[in-house]
Amino acid sequence: MNNNSEKSRLPAWVGPAIFLLTTGVVVLLGLLAFSIMERRWETQRPAIAVTPIAEWEPDNAVWGQNYPRQYERYLRTSDDTTRTLFGGSFPRDYLEDDPNQVVLFAGYAFSKEYLQARGHYYSVEDVTKTKRVNPKTFSSCWTCKSTEVPKYMAEMGVAEFYATPFSNFVGKITHPIGCQDCHDPETMNLRITRPALREAFAAMGRDIDKATHQEMRSLVCAQCHVEYYFKDGSYVTLPWAKGLGLEEIIQYYDEIAFSDWNHPISGTPMIKSQHPDYELYSMGIHSYRGVSCADCHMPYRTEGGLKFTDHHVQSPLLNIANSCGVCHRWSEDEIRERVEGIQTKVQNAKIETEKVLVRAHLDIAAAMQAGASDEDLAQARTLVRHAQYRWDFVSSHNGVGFHAPQECTRILGDAARQAQEARLIAARLLAAKGISTEPRYPDISTRKKAVEVIGAFEAGQPMDLL
Ligand code: HEC
Ligand code: HEC
Ligand code: HEC
Ligand code: HEC
Repeated sequence: MNNNSEKSRLPAWVGPAIFLLTTGVVVLLGLLAFSIMERRWETQRPAIAVTPIAEWEPDNAVWGQNYPRQYERYLRTSDDTTRTLFGGSFPRDYLEDDPNQVVLFAGYAFSKEYLQARGHYYSVEDVTKTKRVNPKTFSSCWTCKSTEVPKYMAEMGVAEFYATPFSNFVGKITHPIGCQDCHDPETMNLRITRPALREAFAAMGRDIDKATHQEMRSLVCAQCHVEYYFKDGSYVTLPWAKGLGLEEIIQYYDEIAFSDWNHPISGTPMIKSQHPDYELYSMGIHSYRGVSCADCHMPYRTEGGLKFTDHHVQSPLLNIANSCGVCHRWSEDEIRERVEGIQTKVQNAKIETEKVLVRAHLDIAAAMQAGASDEDLAQARTLVRHAQYRWDFVSSHNGVGFHAPQECTRILGDAARQAQEARLIAARLLAAKGISTEPRYPDISTRKKAVEVIGAFEAGQPMDLL
C-alpha cells in the first residue's frame, strides 16, 4: 500500500527518461560488441588484403601472406613423426604389422604397399611415390591430393581431367592439399570444390548448397575422406545413391556387378573399400549430436588472446585439451584411456575377422583343387566378397573404430559370420569329394612368408592344399 502510493507520486518524465537511458546503454553495448568482433576479424583478415587471392590459387604460401596464423599451423602437417597407440602421422607399415592383409589383398596393389596416411603436407609426394600407381593409372588419383585439381577441372572439364593419364601431371602438379580445397578465396567461406561429393548429394536427392555452416565443417573433409570407386574406369564416384550405410553401399555395388579385382586364391570378384571416414562418422554419437570433424581435428586455438581455427589437422589424441576438453570434463588421461579402450576392442575384433577371412579364401581354393565348380562355389564367393568388404569398410576407415564404435563392431560381427558360412560351404563341398581333413594351411606369420604364398597363387602355381 505504502509502496504503491510512493510510486504514483513520481513525476511523469521519469518513465520516458528511463526508456531513453536504457536504449542508449543498449546501443553503446552493441557498438562495443561490434568493435570487438571487427577487431578480431581485422587481425585475421587485413582491412586491405595484402595479396588479392585469385580464383583457384593453388599456392598455400600466397594465401599464407594474408592469413599467417592458419598457414603456420597448416605447415605443421609436415611433422611425420607423431605416434599414438594406433594412429599418428608416421607412415606405419600395415603389411609388416599385419601379414593377414597381404593375403586378403592378393592380386591387388594393396598387397604390395599399404602405409598409414601422413599429414596433408605430403599428399603430392606420397601419391607420386606409391607403388600403387602404375602407367595405366588415371588422373582420378590426383583428385584428392592437390589444390591444383579444381583449376584443371575448370579448364579441361571434369571427365576429361579424370581420364588423363596420371603421369601427364607428374611434375606439373606440385601443391599439396591446402587452403583452396576448403575455402572461397574472396569470402573465405567454406566451399565444396570436388564434384564427386556434390554429385553424390544430388544422387541422394539432396542439395549440398543447403548444408548448414556446422555441416560444412564436416563436408569439406568429406570431399576426400569417403568411400569411392571409378565409374567407367576413371570417373570418381561415391556409391551413395541408396544411402551412406554399409548395406546400401554393398547393394549399390552388387546391382552394377562392380569389382576392383579378382582374388587369385579363391577366384572371388572383390571390392576394395577406401577410407569411409565420413560415412562411419555419420553413424556415430558425435555426428548425431552435431559435433563436426573440424571440432575434433581443427579445434580453436588461442594465441595472444586471439582465437582462431587450428589448421594443424592431426590425431586429436595429440591435442586432447583443445579437441575434447571443451566438451568433456574428464582428465586427459581418462580421455586417452577411453579412446584407446574403444580402439583396442575394435582392433581385436578386426584381427579375428581377418583370420577367418584368410581361411575362407584358402578353403575355397582347397575346394577348387578338389574339383568343385564355379557353380558350386558361387554362394561361398558371394559371402566372401561381402564379408571382406565389410571388414575393409572398418579396416580402411581411419581412427580404428573411434568414430562409430558400435557400428564398427556390428559390421565386423557380420563379416566374421559370413566368412564362417563360406567356410562351411567349402567344407561341405570337400566332404562331398570324400575329403574330411582340414586343408593344409600355409604359414603366413610374417610378411615375407605371406608374400611367397600369394606369389604362388598369382603365378597360377598354387601350393597343394589337400
Ligand atoms: C569426437 C571427435 C572426432 C570427430 C567428430 C571426428 N574425429 Fe577423426 N578421430 C578422432 C579420434 C579420437 C581419432 C583417433 C586418433 C588416434 O588413434 O590417434 C580420430 C582419427 C581420425 C583419423 C586418423 C588420424 C590418425 O592419426 O590416425 C582421420 C583421418 C580422421 N579421424 C578423420 C576424420 C574425419 C574426416 C571426420 C569427420 C567426417 C572425423 N575424423 C571426425 C576424433 C574425431
Ligand atoms: C581441410 C579444410 C581446410 C583447409 C585445407 C584450410 N582450411 Fe581454413 N578453415 C577450415 C575450417 C573448417 C575453418 C572453420 C570455419 C568456420 O567454422 O567458419 C577454417 C577457418 C579459416 C579461417 C577463418 C578464421 C579462423 O581461423 O577460424 C581462415 C582465415 C582460414 N581458415 C585460412 C586458411 C588458410 C590460409 C589455409 C591454407 C594454409 C586454410 N585455411 C586451409 C578448413 C580448412
Ligand atoms: C583434398 C582432399 C582432402 C581434404 C579436403 C581433407 N583431407 Fe585429410 N587427408 C587427405 C589425404 C590424401 C591424406 C593422406 C596424405 C598422405 O598420406 O600423404 C589425408 C590425411 C589426413 C589425416 C592424417 C594425418 C595425421 O597426422 O594422422 C587426418 C587426421 C586428416 N586427413 C583429417 C582431415 C580432416 C579432419 C579434414 C577436414 C577438415 C580433411 N582431412 C580434409 C585428403 C584430404
Ligand atoms: C563439441 C562437443 C564435443 C567434442 C569436441 C567432443 N565430444 Fe565426445 N561427446 C559429445 C557429446 C554431445 C556426446 C554424447 C553424450 C551424450 O549424449 O550423452 C559425446 C560422447 C562421447 C563419448 C561416449 C560415446 C559412447 O558411445 O558412449 C566418448 C568416449 C567421447 N565423446 C569422446 C570424445 C573424445 C575422445 C573427443 C576428442 C577427440 C570428444 N569426445 C570430443 C560432445 C563432444
